[in-house]
Amino acid sequence: MTFAERRIVMKDGRPAVIRPVRMSDAESLAACNRSVIAAGTGMTRELSQCAHTPEEVEAHARELVSLAETGAGIALAAIVGDEVGGAGMIRRQPRRRVRHVGHIGVGIAPAFQGLGLGRAIMEGLIAWARAQPNNAVSRVDLFVFADNVRAIRLYESLGFVVEGRRRRAVRYEDGRETDDLIMGLLL
Ligand SMILES: CC(C)(COP(=O)(O)OP(=O)(O)OC[C@H]1O[C@@H](n2cnc3c(N)ncnc32)[C@H](O)[C@@H]1OP(=O)(O)O)[C@@H](O)C(=O)NCCC(=O)NCCS
Repeated sequence: MTFAERRIVMKDGRPAVIRPVRMSDAESLAACNRSVIAAGTGMTRELSQCAHTPEEVEAHARELVSLAETGAGIALAAIVGDEVGGAGMIRRQPRRRVRHVGHIGVGIAPAFQGLGLGRAIMEGLIAWARAQPNNAVSRVDLFVFADNVRAIRLYESLGFVVEGRRRRAVRYEDGRETDDLIMGLLL
């Protein structure tokens, strides 16, 4: 079961499309990811760990596209004009006893934050999970820094609840620490 394209209007009136990631998105997707990481909010990954070389950029896109091909999940991109404004993915756990769990990650480029793309991508990922036959994915979850208020508001508004708190699990470069929350949604 895959995901059909969805057209939306962003909060600034511009149109955008939510659709599965394609190989032709590779360059723009990598640029989007790098801008999310460079902004420094909400992620543990560092810029040096992002895709930079043409080979890395292609491999990253290939990994996301293959999710849908193998049924392990799906990666969705938010396309604004001809640019990837944000992306998210849901990945089922590989082991049989936890295969009904889909783990979500999402990131919107700073230039496109607060315009509704994060919500639209999250709705798409949840819709994909709900659409799997035989209730195959009955739980979705994610990790979020406890100081990431915008993200937490978004997830709560979609029905996610805080299930756990990894105390002081994140340490910023200046030494400040914050908790990492486990949030889950039962479908
Ligand atoms: C968190 C993130 C995914 C949200 O996506 P977004 O496109 O910026 O957010 P949206 O415009 O879809 O807003 C969704 C909700 O977030 C909340 N929100 C938006 N802006 C907010 C702000 N400035 N303060 C508090 N809450 C805010 C609102 O509840 C909003 O709901 P609404 O649609 O009813 O207005 C995005 O900002 C992002 O990628 N941030 C950096 C990386 C990151 O934190 N990723 C998540 C890691 S778990």
